[in-house]
Amino acid sequence: MSKQRVLSGIQPSGKLHIGNLVGALQNWVKLQEQYECYYFIADWHALTSQYADTAQLQEYIKDVLVNCLAAGLDPEKATIFQQSHVLEHAELHVLLSMITPLGWLERVPSFKEKQEAVTDKDLNTYGFLGYPLLQSADILIYKANYVPVGVDQVPHLEITREIRRRFNHFYGEVFPEPEALLTQFPKVPGIDGRKMSKTYDNCIYLSDSSKEVEHKVKTMMTDPQRIKRTDKGDPELSPVYHLHKIFSSKEEQNEVAEGCRTAGIGCIGCKKILIKNLFAVLEPIWEKRKYFLEKPDYLEDIIASGSKKAGETASETMEKARRAMNLKLS
Ligand code: TRP
Repeated sequence: MSKQRVLSGIQPSGKLHIGNLVGALQNWVKLQEQYECYYFIADWHALTSQYADTAQLQEYIKDVLVNCLAAGLDPEKATIFQQSHVLEHAELHVLLSMITPLGWLERVPSFKEKQEAVTDKDLNTYGFLGYPLLQSADILIYKANYVPVGVDQVPHLEITREIRRRFNHFYGEVFPEPEALLTQFPKVPGIDGRKMSKTYDNCIYLSDSSKEVEHKVKTMMTDPQRIKRTDKGDPELSPVYHLHKIFSSKEEQNEVAEGCRTAGIGCIGCKKILIKNLFAVLEPIWEKRKYFLEKPDYLEDIIASGSKKAGETASETMEKARRAMNLKLS
């Protein structure tokens, strides 16, 4: 029996941070052992909102790739590629656009929410409206069975399933039904206590140096009511504790939580433990980042051969879709 197929993408819309590591990359690495995996850099998706200034796009594409490899994605096991190098995504996007009612796209929650939240860009564009449709094309073109994503992506999976159903209804069974593989992990707080996000500028980036990580944790927010060393605190109110929940052992978590409640440990001591544990996760990644960054030809090869391989699968599907729609003479 052939393996089930997994597909997921990540946008090169900024440098990747530890939230991306625990929320996506580490899960992708596990899945590559068990499934036939396609992982890609969604550069066209990044353009749907960051179209006006692409000066940093190359840098971000490279950062995504290097971090994927440093986190343990293995091009021998998973197909790693770049969306814009597989033109069939655009072809399927166009075909799907013919059958997609505008209302379906306008109703996707992220459409209005992001349009309202983002004030420094004009997101009143055709490309931005079509964002979920491009994602549908990404998923359907590989006949993916599973799509590992966070909860924020569930509406995009929903619309993919609806479009798939509509396509198959008009033209016959071409695409199998994809399912979200919800990535369960605790919310990763940024250094200011809000969700870690490049929009808030509160991230610990995978490309940060050890000095930067140390500085960011040392200046990180803690329980705001714990002002003096002798004040007792509530660990749940401290984003530092929430990072301990992700990066520290159960014993250390208990030790710092208890210490916080009783003022037995100071915030500096608590942060030192976190820094040690962050370093343990990040050091091998830093080492591998350095290794891959010194091999630009190898990086280009990975993208070229991954995109070629993905293109073969995509063009097989497209041939079926073209036939199903009667675009071929024979
Ligand atoms: N929209 C996804 C995100 O922002 C990225 C993405 C693009 C994606 N195409 C995809 C994820 C296809 C899964 C499958 O995280």
